[in-house]
Amino acid sequence: MAGIILYRSKYGASEQYARMLAKETGFPMARLADVKPSALAAYSHVVLCSGVYAGRIAAAKFLRQNAAKLQGTRVALFAAGLSPADEATLGTLKSNHADIAGVPLFYGRGAWRHERLKAGDKLLCAMLHGMLAKKDPSQYEEPWMQTFMECYKKDCDFTDAAYLAPLLAWLDLPK
Ligand SMILES: Cc1cc2nc3c(=O)[nH]c(=O)nc-3n(C[C@H](O)[C@H](O)[C@H](O)COP(=O)(O)O)c2cc1C
Repeated sequence: MAGIILYRSKYGASEQYARMLAKETGFPMARLADVKPSALAAYSHVVLCSGVYAGRIAAAKFLRQNAAKLQGTRVALFAAGLSPADEATLGTLKSNHADIAGVPLFYGRGAWRHERLKAGDKLLCAMLHGMLAKKDPSQYEEPWMQTFMECYKKDCDFTDAAYLAPLLAWLDLPK
């Protein structure tokens, strides 16, 4: 079984999950941006770890654009976000990504690294924080916003190897 773990991560959580997966599986890991899609034909299994930003899984675009090249390869996507790890979150992500409906999707909680926020995200998040501060938490539109408000200006890490268990079961590695 030849597999590879790819990641697309702005704030480190998806990279951390990729590292844990690489250790657990023995597969190599690489940044998605550093990989040529044609090189993936060498692998039977490809796992992508990616952050969720504004309801979208960043690496989904790569899967959409390279669907033809990945035919015959077992591909799975592991998304990391601040939303709770539950069926509702998975359901929302699936409905936001109907274009990659055939790709098994897994989810684990990510991290909030305020100091590392990139300029565009910093501005966006400052505006969001200002808007949410005027509301009662019961009126927040998205499930990740409560955690966002609690972690704003802080460093919060919710990554946990336990979130990888369903994906590892899907990989079904030889013992
Ligand atoms: C601009 C921005 C938008 C975000 N939107 C969401 C979101 O829609 N849902 C969610 O669960 N988390 C959201 N998050 C939190 C990220 O998913 C979380 O920081 C995750 O760890 C990102 O993955 P990374 O650490 O690999 O970059 C957002 C974070 C930022 C900075």
